[in-house]
Amino acid sequence: MDDLAAVSIDVVFPPEARAAALRDEVRVGLTAVPKELQPKWFYDDRGSALFDQITRLPEYYLTRAERAILSTRADEIAALTKADTLVELGSGTSEKTRILLDALMPERFVAFDVSADTLCASAQALATHYPRLAVAGVVGDFEQHLTALPRGRRRLLAFLGSTIGNLPPPTRAMFLRDVAAVLAGDESFLLGVDLVKDPARLAAAYNDEAGVSAEFNRNVLHVLNRELEADFDARAFAHVAEWDPHEEWVVMSLRSLRRQSVRLDALDLSVAFADGELMRTEISAKFRRESITAELAAAGLRVRRWWEDAAGDYAVLVASPSGSR
Ligand code: SAH
Ligand code: TRP
Repeated sequence: MDDLAAVSIDVVFPPEARAAALRDEVRVGLTAVPKELQPKWFYDDRGSALFDQITRLPEYYLTRAERAILSTRADEIAALTKADTLVELGSGTSEKTRILLDALMPERFVAFDVSADTLCASAQALATHYPRLAVAGVVGDFEQHLTALPRGRRRLLAFLGSTIGNLPPPTRAMFLRDVAAVLAGDESFLLGVDLVKDPARLAAAYNDEAGVSAEFNRNVLHVLNRELEADFDARAFAHVAEWDPHEEWVVMSLRSLRRQSVRLDALDLSVAFADGELMRTEISAKFRRESITAELAAAGLRVRRWWEDAAGDYAVLVASPSGSR
């Protein structure tokens, strides 16, 4: 083990608490009308690997657009924020993060993710690649544990990948208030958001030819089979991703391909699905400059910079607590 660089990991969401949250949320979701599941359970090892494949799909422009903006603006981000600590929420593989680390050259990097295995592996990879960087990981739920973030002298809190779009509006508002509350006046929030665009391109990004999005969506059923002793037949559910022009979000669902009953032994629960019944699994909201600026302002965050990629598909912004200069 002596060739592994040192990484300290803080588990604020221990496996027992996570298992209890999974049981509670799945019971609530599967007995609701319409049925729904929470996206944070998508990312077991296989789910994280499938998402990584999604980021490389020709139809999935989001990751490439965000990377292009970060590459062009990293020096400006460093000069503006003067951060000595980079904290990344929902860090996943932290792949694009290297662009920021190269420009900021901070003393410390903190990865925060609900998926412990992916977090440990990517923190380890970063520590090896940047031997002088102090790398820490926090296994937590960013909907509940933002107060557990380590302090720094001047932190930059990054939330990339348009993951903010996966939070339903009330959760999103709470999350943004938490972010504003944990940031000191001289600290910053770096946010990546996907923008409203031609519905055909949005549909393609979430219904790729290769079927990886479908596999990713269905993966949540494998998670439930394993962790809640359930007997979902994943082949009996079809991936559906549809643009809702009023809400301006893509809704991901799983459609039951027949009438069926599913048993979840760990919950002592049987659930009936009608033929064609839709179970919602995730939303991916798309943003406009005015609306996200107003949401941030309502939470106490002032947008200081806004950058888009050349095509106007995607935006990255820097915000700071409203009271600050
Ligand atoms: N930031 C990366 C990964 C985005 S995928 C990128 O831009 O490509 C979303 C990541 O958020 C996954 O790693 C997932 O495990 C994590 N995640 C999802 N819900 C979470 C939650 N409630 N708390 C913490 N992490 C969460
Ligand atoms: N954060 C990703 C997004 O909103 C999540 C995602 C991408 C996703 N493709 C998916 C979720 C397909 C479910 C199904 O873009």
